[in-house]
Amino acid sequence: MINYAVVGVGYFGAELARIMKEQEDAQVVAVYDPENGETIAKELSCDAEASLESLVSRPDVNCVIVASPNYLHKEPVILAAKHGKNVFCEKPIALSYADCDEMVKACEENHVIFMAGHIMNFFNGVHHAKELINEGKIGKVLYCHSARNGWEDVQESVSWKKIREKSGGHLYHHIHELDCVQFLMGGMPEEVTMEAGNVAHQGEAFGDEDDMIFITARFKDGRYAVMEWGSAFRWPEH
Ligand SMILES: NC(=O)c1ccc[n+]([C@@H]2O[C@H](COP(=O)([O-])OP(=O)(O)OC[C@H]3O[C@@H](n4cnc5c(N)ncnc54)[C@H](O)[C@@H]3O)[C@@H](O)[C@H]2O)c1
Repeated sequence: MINYAVVGVGYFGAELARIMKEQEDAQVVAVYDPENGETIAKELSCDAEASLESLVSRPDVNCVIVASPNYLHKEPVILAAKHGKNVFCEKPIALSYADCDEMVKACEENHVIFMAGHIMNFFNGVHHAKELINEGKIGKVLYCHSARNGWEDVQESVSWKKIREKSGGHLYHHIHELDCVQFLMGGMPEEVTMEAGNVAHQGEAFGDEDDMIFITARFKDGRYAVMEWGSAFRWPEH
């Protein structure tokens, strides 16, 4: 039986906790979330810890799941590692290379497993495509294209997900395609160019992230990928 504790039980953290609770060999023993902790602990019949420190220092916790907002992942990951807990951290693990590096090193130094919540590698279709590539059945992949589009209306309040400093913007918050394309192309590109801008979501009703991002990546052996993220397309006008 593996005992899990969850840091941040909003939309996704609560879902992860519910899913873990359904697994035969897993249970959720505690959660920590200053806003939603009590409610979700009641639903899951586990403890609501009053602080991050008290959660990560519990001797009955084997693994900590971190699902707080993107800019708040670093502290719980490093603290959990220092307490010898394995860590699953939601994507993006952090908003700078230096922070990612510190988190990975903390887990290495404390000999704990560190896993990032990159989900696309586990999608059946993506997995199947990778198998076909590995087995040489579809030859050399010369070009890969990904697009994540969707119009965003005014929200009741501006979420942390729309504030670049907290989410990292679309590229970080929707890092899935960047991860997936590199997975399919078999590594990191040699050269990347990027253009981005806020085309149609300016003003107080919106955050400050770019709503269009275009990336061209050149991989070794002259292979290419084009990736785009955008919320400036409005169906059916565009
Ligand atoms: N893998 C995926 O497909 C996927 C999907 C959705 C979200 N996510 C990731 O999950 C994380 C959470 O996203 P969400 O949609 O659940 O956001 P959310 O805003 O719904 O939930 C965040 C929760 O964290 C809590 N919180 C705030 N500060 C905290 C702190 N210091 N310590 C502990 N908890 C704190 C908030 O009270 C809130 O309940 C993000 O990193 C996001 O990128 C991943």
